[in-house]
Amino acid sequence: MEMETSISKNGMGIRGYDFVEFYVGSAKMVAYWYVKTMGFDIQAYSGPETGVKDRVSYYLVQNNIKIVITSAIHPGANDIIRFINLHGDGVKRWSINVESVEKAFSHAVSNGAIPERTPQETSDENGFIVEAAIKLYDDAEIVFFNADQYRGLFRPGFAEPLQNISFEREQSGLKFIDHIVGNVRENEMNYWADYFINTMDFETALSFGPGDISTQYSALLSKVVRTKDHLIQNPINEPYEGIKKSQIEEYIEQYHGTGIQHIAIATDDIVRTIAALRKNGMEFLSVPDTYYDHLKERAIEITEDIEELKEQGILCDVEGTGYLLQLFTKPIGDRPTFFYEIIQRRKGAQGFGQGNFQSLFESIEMDQALRGNLDR
Ligand code: FE2
Repeated sequence: MEMETSISKNGMGIRGYDFVEFYVGSAKMVAYWYVKTMGFDIQAYSGPETGVKDRVSYYLVQNNIKIVITSAIHPGANDIIRFINLHGDGVKRWSINVESVEKAFSHAVSNGAIPERTPQETSDENGFIVEAAIKLYDDAEIVFFNADQYRGLFRPGFAEPLQNISFEREQSGLKFIDHIVGNVRENEMNYWADYFINTMDFETALSFGPGDISTQYSALLSKVVRTKDHLIQNPINEPYEGIKKSQIEEYIEQYHGTGIQHIAIATDDIVRTIAALRKNGMEFLSVPDTYYDHLKERAIEITEDIEELKEQGILCDVEGTGYLLQLFTKPIGDRPTFFYEIIQRRKGAQGFGQGNFQSLFESIEMDQALRGNLDR
């Protein structure tokens, strides 16, 4: 009798998020920011010293979060240079750890995924990794990744970092990636939602139509697709008609295309995490004090002290018997494009903070107006 492999668990053998790779202008400096502000440690490095001639990469780790920061150091690194020229710093690819790269890739491509790279083994004296990639949005990729047979640091081409960087910093307690969000143009949201559903066996978790998410000025549509075990959650936003320019339109204009808008990182003590990040120099969106007056009026049962939430500017959204605490950083780079979300889910909350959208977007619009990007 043949045993069913666990590949059938979510159809794709998906085990969860693996690394996220950013292309940036100056990897070393961005890596330092991740160490100092976000609390990551540089675990591995790749560049000329490790035999890679046209680019450098820093592999940063904090608990279950893995981030790769990559820059070109030679005009021949066309993929990076073209990306940076167009988009500025941004997410080039995020990866899914799978049981079998070949199976995941062939399942995806035979169901309509656009192939970027077929499965390939890369090896050195520490073993081998396997990876493949499919297209995502205008210029990003989803990578299927497996390093079960690799005992070295991250992957071949990486070695111990050259510098031992240590800053005085607060421990931020960031634990794992909760969700990754994409921004697309009008009428593209359903295409990409179906792409996840059809090619990687995702399901629709939530859908926000016209009128669900809007301020007096602007609106957006949003759909959340996820694996059936909720390990990977991927909301997709598209702009919707409004009097003024929405944050999604601003993103697409400034990024010169569609791409990753934000990554939400989970913590199990958000008050402490936000306090630590603030101390380390992270900037967050601000919400008006009246937000907390309303929160008190609702008299909901939460473990946290509302005064503490107010002090740190943390948002709270209630759904059923659970609730969700969250806060968004300001854009982390030079353009108003990519930002982080810090999130803590309590008592089984599964949403994405829809109750906070109104006050949040009003806060974003204030910053948009400062940049001159609110009026059409
Ligand atoms: Fe989010």
